Amino acid sequence: MRMRSARFVIRRARAGDASAIAEVYIAARRGAARYFPTVHSDDEIRGWITSHVVPNLEGWVAEGTEPDPGAIIAMMALDGAMLEQLYVAPAWQGRGVGNRLLALAMRERPAGLRLWTFQANTPARRFYEARGFRAVEFTDGARNEERAPDVLYECKGKEETIKTIDRFH
Ligand SMILES: CC(C)(COP(=O)(O)OP(=O)(O)OC[C@H]1O[C@@H](n2cnc3c(N)ncnc32)[C@H](O)[C@@H]1OP(=O)(O)O)[C@@H](O)C(=O)NCCC(=O)NCCS
Repeated sequence: MRMRSARFVIRRARAGDASAIAEVYIAARRGAARYFPTVHSDDEIRGWITSHVVPNLEGWVAEGTEPDPGAIIAMMALDGAMLEQLYVAPAWQGRGVGNRLLALAMRERPAGLRLWTFQANTPARRFYEARGFRAVEFTDGARNEERAPDVLYECKGKEETIKTIDRFH
């Protein structure tokens, strides 16, 4: 049975959100620990989110409006055409929050979007594939910090789709 949709708003991340964003990231990775090799301590992650992710990337958050108004329940970070981070707090997963954030990213990047995920992260892979992402490169993990095989996904944006369609006319 499908759970009730979450009630939330999406907005750009602000500097003051950094610690709440870090807690969402840490909790989501811990909740999906079997798909995420751990190479950093929680404090290292908090430092990296505060000093790099929030100030340097295009951050978005979902903020709950009920039953916990103001709580940050999900985070997303874009860097150019890359979707670098997408994490929904465990209690809020499967209720349409990730779907709304990903739809926003796709609208914000009409030329297309790419992302890396671990090959073992089958729920995330299903989630992206159901929304039009296609695997374009598989690696043995030698180039990522976790040394875990990963996969590059690409979603051709509307502009690319239009160009492809144009070629057939
Ligand atoms: C992967 C992840 C980002 C997806 O976000 P989410 O909020 O859980 O996903 P959604 O609820 O939007 O969609 C998941 C499923 O719930 C279903 N769903 C349930 N209730 C829903 C609702 N009210 N509205 C829309 N979809 C709903 C969707 O149909 C979807 O099914 P599908 O994948 O078969 O299409 C999130 O689960 C997560 O953070 N996982 C752990 C960390 C992770 O793996 N991050 C990705 C790293 S690359």
